[in-house]
Amino acid sequence: MTEFRLYPSILSADFSQLEKQIHDAETCGADGIHVDVMDGHFVPSITFGTPIIKAVRSLSYLPLDIHMMTMHPENHFFEFAIAGADSITVHYEACPTLADTLVELDKFDVMKCVAVNPSTPIEKIFGILHTVDRILIMSVEPGAGGQIFIPESLKKIQTLSKEIKSQGLSTSIQVDGGINPDTTLAAVRSGANILVAGSAVFNDNFSVCDGISKMRNSSS
Ligand code: DX5
Ligand code: ZN
Repeated sequence: MTEFRLYPSILSADFSQLEKQIHDAETCGADGIHVDVMDGHFVPSITFGTPIIKAVRSLSYLPLDIHMMTMHPENHFFEFAIAGADSITVHYEACPTLADTLVELDKFDVMKCVAVNPSTPIEKIFGILHTVDRILIMSVEPGAGGQIFIPESLKKIQTLSKEIKSQGLSTSIQVDGGINPDTTLAAVRSGANILVAGSAVFNDNFSVCDGISKMRNSSS
């Protein structure tokens, strides 16, 4: 079996049953819960903020992974950290002075992560790799669940994985967007070790546990 950690994204969850869906994800082997914060500026949609982060924190002991698709993410680091975030991801494209943003994030007891959009060359973040815990490769355009995996993302993961090794680092690689049983193995073989999956886990057509099992079995 090819090892990876699986972080279901609650963007596709049924919010009328959030407690049950998170409980099912936890019971059936999820390794973390991914929360997509969208501000209506960096991406067109608006999703969640602090009250939902607090609610999810109260429902699970799993690592709580906050993906900030927002401009000025630093304005919310304090409240998200207090609400229970274990990791906070900011977008390279939303941070004109990324190094400063990461210094700000370093004030909080959370993992520091940077996300890179599909059109951003991965080389752009090579200079800050040693300052972060994790890089998130977006394998779809950020802003919505249920999109198709962009195959070129695999090459990006491979290039990043090679660079991390050549810098002697142990930075994690997370991939987000279009991850399902058909794309899992390729993403993991390319070097990703944390996979985010929304619609492949939270879906009206099958249970949360079946969704997680299908992902796990696809890489065995
Ligand atoms: C998209 C979000 C993802 C989303 C992925 O902008 O960052 O986390 O939930 O959804 P799927 O897995 O359905 O592509
Ligand atoms: Zn996400």
